[in-house]
This record gives sequence, C-alpha cells and structure tokens, in this order.
Amino acid sequence: MIKTKNISTVAAVVAGVAAAGFIIFANPINKNKEMSTTEINNINKKAKINNSLPIPALLEDKNPDPKIDDFTLEPQQGLTSFIAGTQTKTMGYNGNFLGPVIRVNKGDQVNIHVNNKLNEATTVHWHGVEVNGENDGGPDQAIKPGTTWNPSFTINQQAATLWYHPHFSGTTATQVYSGLAGLFYVDDEVSKSLNIPKDYGINDIPLVIQDRSFNKDGSFKYDTNMMDGATGNNVIVNGAVKPYLDVKKVKIRLRIVNGSNASNFNLNLDNKDDFYQIASDGGFLESPVRQKSLFLAPGERAEIIIDFSKYDKGTKVSLINDKTEILSFNVKEDGNDTTEIPDVLTKVNKIEKSQATKVRNFDLQGMGNMVSINGQKFDMNRIDETVKQGDTEIWNITSEEAMMHNMGHPFHIHGVQFQILSRDGKEPDEGETGWKDTVYIKPNEKVSIIVKFNNKGTFMYHCHILEHEESGMMGQIKVE
Ligand code: C2O
Ligand code: CU
Ligand code: CU
Repeated sequence: MIKTKNISTVAAVVAGVAAAGFIIFANPINKNKEMSTTEINNINKKAKINNSLPIPALLEDKNPDPKIDDFTLEPQQGLTSFIAGTQTKTMGYNGNFLGPVIRVNKGDQVNIHVNNKLNEATTVHWHGVEVNGENDGGPDQAIKPGTTWNPSFTINQQAATLWYHPHFSGTTATQVYSGLAGLFYVDDEVSKSLNIPKDYGINDIPLVIQDRSFNKDGSFKYDTNMMDGATGNNVIVNGAVKPYLDVKKVKIRLRIVNGSNASNFNLNLDNKDDFYQIASDGGFLESPVRQKSLFLAPGERAEIIIDFSKYDKGTKVSLINDKTEILSFNVKEDGNDTTEIPDVLTKVNKIEKSQATKVRNFDLQGMGNMVSINGQKFDMNRIDETVKQGDTEIWNITSEEAMMHNMGHPFHIHGVQFQILSRDGKEPDEGETGWKDTVYIKPNEKVSIIVKFNNKGTFMYHCHILEHEESGMMGQIKVE
C-alpha cells in the first residue's frame, strides 16, 4: 500500500487540527496488535489449509429467454476463515464474503432481485454500468432489512469488467470492508470473437484485490487513519491471504479490480517480466499495451494477459504489490494454447473535444473527514450540477494539496464511461486511452476528461476512497 507521509508528521498535523476543533478523531494505528501476513501464512501452512485462489461462482440467470436475465442477489452476514482456527464476521452476496460474478450480454434486459438479508439497510450500486438514475443504486435508494429492490435495465455498452458494491450513506465503507463487492461482466460481439483467453475460471480469472487488517482473534480491524481512509496490512485476493493458483503453460487473462477502501496497488511480477494490458475500466483498449507494472487506485479495473508458456514447468511466478507477494502462480503442466494476443482488440471511438458544450471544474480538497469538492460537502438534498441528456462536457478535476499532505484521489462518476483527455496537459499513458469510469488524480495534478451523459436521472460523482466519500467528497449531478 502506498502511504505518502510518515505517521508522526500526519499525527502532528491531525493533533493541530483536532485542537482547532474541526475533526472527529480517528483510531491511531496500532501495528502491534495486528496479525502480519507472515504470521497468518505460517498459521495457515501449519494447519494445512488449501490456500488455492478462490474463484467466485457465476450467478445463475433464472430466465430461459437469452435476451432477458433474472438474477437474485442476497446481501447477508456471514463467517469466513481467513486465518486457520479463527472465524471472521463478514458480509457477502449469496455467501459469506464477496459475491458471485453477474455475467450479461450487450443488449440484454437485466432484472435483478436484491433481497436484503442483512440486519441493516444497504444499496447495490452497479459501478461502471450505464443505467438511468433510478437503477443506479446510489445512497438515496435504500433497501431496508427484509425488503427487496428490483432494478431493471438494458445493457447498452461495450464488453467490460464492471463491479457492484453497496453505497448507503454512512455504511458504504464498513459494508465494503466486511466483504460486500462482486464483479459484473458485459460480453459483446468483440469479446466473443477475439481469440483471447475466455474460459471462466480456467484461463480467464477474476481477481478482487483488497487490503485488510486482522486482530489476533481473526476479526477484522477496521482502522481509519485521518489521511488515507481504512487501510490494512494484508492484501487479500478473492478473499484469501496470499493464495496460489496452479496454471498450465498457457496465456492467462486476469480481470483485476482494486476493491480496497483506500489503498492504491502497484502490481508487477516478481521476475520483472512484461505482461499485456488489454482493458481498462470500461472495456478493451484498441491494442494490448505491454508493461511491467500496473497502477490501480480504489475502484479502478484492468484486464491483463500473462503468458506462462515461456516458463518451465515447476516455475513459480508471483504477482507482487510494490515488494510484497500477494498471489503466486505455479506453472504445473503443459498446455495446448490456441489463444493469442491480437495486435488489435477493438476500436475506441474518440469523443471529439469539439462536441463538448460545457467545461466544469472540480477541485478535490482537504483530507481526513474535512474533505470537500469545490468547497462543499455532499448534501443529499442539493443538486450540484445539472446537465441535459445527450450533452458532452469536459470536466477538469484537480487535487489540491491540503495542509502539507499530498494526497491523490480516485474520481468516479456514476452511470457513464468517459475518456481521459490529458494529465497536466500531457497525453495520458496508453493504458488510460480507453474507457474509464474512475480516474486517479495525483496530488496537485489537473486531469481533463470528456464525458457524454446518455442516461437520465440523478447520479453521484465522488472520490472512491470510501472514507472520503462518506466524509462528503461527493456531489450530485442531475441529467434531465
Ligand atoms: Cu464504486 Cu459511487 O461507486
Ligand atoms: Cu459507481
Ligand atoms: Cu479522496
């Protein structure tokens, strides 16, 4: 996890601000009481736990009509064993932790039945899905315990790896930390016709990467420090601490979501080999981008292909975050690989600047729970911006340095996919030239995006550090 300042500097700043009376104090970090990844690993090894990477189930579509999909999601409380001999109180959809993968085709009519089996209210937001406001699952669409919400929408976007998670005011961060999150795949003619790895769970693997801290008794330690929101000292992948995956000598596609509350990930392979990025948040890039590392801020996704055919049987290759191993691949068997890494994946139609009818500026300010956008905190009863349906706009987003604390913010807009025009006036990296719904704004940076508002309704835009969002770094846009 990337921390930008050392704790003592931050504590001094916080103490000063607290004295001035602005801040509700957050828990100080107490590293001594937390379980380290090495400790957890040793306990699990001793207990001979099978620590292979969990693969979430594909959610059954109960409607026989191929063009109409009916899915049931049940948010519920559960118990999960991350550390042998202990049980962690968790939440999941249709299970104990995380949720199944919802898989739909472009053009499908999708009906989802969300039965809230929690003993608290929740919402389900389809992050990255282009829906109208009523089906978006934002904070104003509470599902009370024991009740059902039945959103229904038609998929009108290109193939992509999207996701879903709760968005209720005041509990988004803790519900996500407890385990409420799942993937939402869209397929289309392009994704079906490309000869890339696409056998779910075989050579097309979902990876939900998150960080968590554990107390000695196995319970989650939800720690928010003032600057960064809730970070953890262990990285978990699909709900397992440092799991492994046995692979054949073939190409493997990984669909990665940064599902953490507040931590950025900087992913690379321990052998420093290249991999190919083929998709960003909202779908395929035009061409695969060869790279050695992948940066993902909270909420962002990417798809990559790793070619394991070049390694000898018996080789272990690890996916690492900065310097820490988070998932290891054991190259076990020969494979008969007929997939390829094509030169061209799709055509991304660039939104022309000349189509924009308005420019808006959003300044992300402050830190801790003093965050705001353009000087205002979120208010459910206030519409901050109004747009006409079908309009295209340029949004300039800046991250303002706060009290000597340089902090980046992942900025997300509901209900749309946008394109990045520039970062501080410069062209974005190749991996950011496709569709995006979340963009990381580095400290003191100005990022320009171009976005077309196709769907009507009220939508959120916010920082995807969930504790920042909860503290008011969020606004509402009405598309009418
Ligand atoms: Cu990932 Cu407002 O959400
Ligand atoms: Cu969203
Ligand atoms: Cu933020």
